[in-house]
Amino acid sequence: MKAPFLLLVACTLAIAKLVDNVADLPSDSFDFVVVGGGAAGNVIANRLSEKPRLLRVVLEAGISNVDVLGAIVPFFCSRSVPYDWNYTTVPQAGLNGQIVTYPRKYRGRILGGSSSINCLVYSRGSSEDFDRWAELSGDPGWSWDSLQPYIRKFDPAVHGFNGLLGVGLAGYFHPFDQRVFNAVDELSAEFPYNVDYNSGTHQLGIGWTQATIRGGERSSSATAYLAPHFLQRPNLHVLINAQVTRVLQTESLAFRAVEFATDAKSPRHRITARKEVILSAGSVGTPHILMHSGIGNASALSRVGIAPLHDLPSVGQNLSDHTFLGNQWQLREWNATRTGPLVDTTITQVGWLRIPDNSSIFQQFPDPAAGPHTAHYELLFTNGLIRPPTPPTGNFMGIGTAVVAPVSRGSITLNSSDPFASPLIDPALLSSDFDLFVMREAVKSVQRFVAARAWDGYIIASLINGTTDAELDAYIRSESSSEYHPVGTAAMSPWGARYGVVDPDLRVKGLTGLRVVDASVLPIVPAAHTQAAVYIFAERAADLIKAAWA
Ligand SMILES: *[C@@H]1O[C@H](CO)[C@@H](O)[C@H](O)[C@H]1NC(C)=O
Ligand SMILES: *[C@@H]1O[C@H](CO)[C@@H](O)[C@H](O)[C@H]1NC(C)=O
Ligand SMILES: *[C@@H]1O[C@H](CO)[C@@H](O)[C@H](O)[C@H]1NC(C)=O
Ligand SMILES: *[C@@H]1O[C@H](CO)[C@@H](O)[C@H](O)[C@H]1NC(C)=O
Ligand SMILES: *[C@@H]1O[C@H](CO)[C@@H](O)[C@H](O)[C@H]1NC(C)=O
Ligand SMILES: *[C@@H]1O[C@H](CO)[C@@H](O)[C@H](O)[C@H]1NC(C)=O
Ligand SMILES: *[C@@H]1O[C@H](CO)[C@@H](O)[C@H](O)[C@H]1NC(C)=O
Repeated sequence: MKAPFLLLVACTLAIAKLVDNVADLPSDSFDFVVVGGGAAGNVIANRLSEKPRLLRVVLEAGISNVDVLGAIVPFFCSRSVPYDWNYTTVPQAGLNGQIVTYPRKYRGRILGGSSSINCLVYSRGSSEDFDRWAELSGDPGWSWDSLQPYIRKFDPAVHGFNGLLGVGLAGYFHPFDQRVFNAVDELSAEFPYNVDYNSGTHQLGIGWTQATIRGGERSSSATAYLAPHFLQRPNLHVLINAQVTRVLQTESLAFRAVEFATDAKSPRHRITARKEVILSAGSVGTPHILMHSGIGNASALSRVGIAPLHDLPSVGQNLSDHTFLGNQWQLREWNATRTGPLVDTTITQVGWLRIPDNSSIFQQFPDPAAGPHTAHYELLFTNGLIRPPTPPTGNFMGIGTAVVAPVSRGSITLNSSDPFASPLIDPALLSSDFDLFVMREAVKSVQRFVAARAWDGYIIASLINGTTDAELDAYIRSESSSEYHPVGTAAMSPWGARYGVVDPDLRVKGLTGLRVVDASVLPIVPAAHTQAAVYIFAERAADLIKAAWA
């Protein structure tokens, strides 16, 4: 009998039918092996295991560093998670040479990957973001219209009601929220209200956060797609605490085996896939595994002592990410209504805005947004502190600003042939003058926003350090970090293109048996938190895989 799917992830959750010992697996050969139990991997595991007789598989991924994609500012949502990977970037020239933290979680050992620890924001981006991916990949199947059946697997209204993932609005109302919307009313020419920024065609404006919450609880890819009744499927196996070190060549140009271990000191194990290995280890983890497997820039791999097996120079390149800045204000004591000093943050509203069409920067740069209805920057509102360090006393509110149509491009490269060593992560934040310009305009716009009468008597002091452009630039470069939305490190490109990592069907170019399904295939970061796009891509990818093996 053929063994079913095996999903390998690093995790500490005790869920029935998860095993953490390779000896407890029914076989060392499965139809499908899925590497990474994050947002994308769990969708693939769930959807492929729907077809027990057709596929008889099981999935498995031996991975662990499910980096998956888009966490949202885990900076403050996950200040103290014990299962973060503690990745840091290389020194960022655009941030005065600072090294900033980066999410390599989940090796962090949690099923669900980023979707288990992110800040829950559910945002799709604009229809133009999807249409640009369709154009860059040469596959109209990735366009907004074509993806509607998958997009509607997720939530209400323009939204569907049959999805597995729960998406909803805030479940409470605080005076802070009232002031935000009063300011929106007052300044609606610049900050229009938007009832649903996820409709595709009307992204711009400020509205309530849509979040992956169901019944008051986080809805993650683990709770939604690996719920206990799914784990009971006889063809689905999940191995945790297994970090994938490499995919292995099984015959010329075919990579249908996975090598993994619990940690650097443990023995390595090997599992094979009769049909496919699906890498869903995220924008850091996926290129890391590909390069350690000899798939990448041949001369760069040789330089660190890895035998190149398949020359694919785009692996790890073209990383695009959002720069994030947490702007804060100190508030008058608000004893009557506040829930406590330094209340922890939740993003209550988000806004998507553009710099004016006549901005001087467009004399130097073509507009990098996906289209004229797509945001250049995002605002994230929070009734509390939006970034550390925590001051000893006082009440605060924050409005984060993020550059969501960046020109900067970074990379993931290797410094060592040891798969347990961290890769060199360079998101190259604010390395383009365009991105700095947008961030400066975003900071100026929130200063106009808090000057609305709606905030009278509420705010005591701004913690934005500076008034001139030069001072604001210094403040931006010293206080910015990543919004943790890296994509593009195993990007789709058209069939036959001489760049890119995967074909439009997400199979690694020039190879068989190996596919990538996670944020790394998105050629350019959307003007959105990346988790929605990843769920949508993974749903279509599951259908592509089923069709390929029907
Ligand atoms: C990450 O760093 C923190 C503090 O530096 C440490 O307590 C924690 O154990 C580290 N986690 C991992 C997975 O290395
Ligand atoms: C491959 O890497 C080498 C060394 O890092 C670099 O000089 C070269 O430009 C890269 N090749 C491509 C095609 O990107
Ligand atoms: C980066 O992506 C662009 C398309 O967005 C492409 O033209 C270019 O060749 C890519 N570069 C690499 C190194 O893959
Ligand atoms: C508000 O609370 C602070 C302690 O958090 C207290 O010191 C102060 O007296 C209170 N003010 C009023 C007006 O109740
Ligand atoms: C852009 O146009 C607005 C009015 O349409 C004007 O107030 C502003 O000064 C212009 N900005 C630039 C940089 O030309
Ligand atoms: C790169 O490797 C060298 C030597 O192996 C080591 O000294 C250095 O710390 C590494 N750099 C990073 C950023 O990990
Ligand atoms: C404000 O910025 C100036 C430089 O522009 C810097 O010297 C000063 O330390 C900053 N103050 C704070 C509180 O960060």
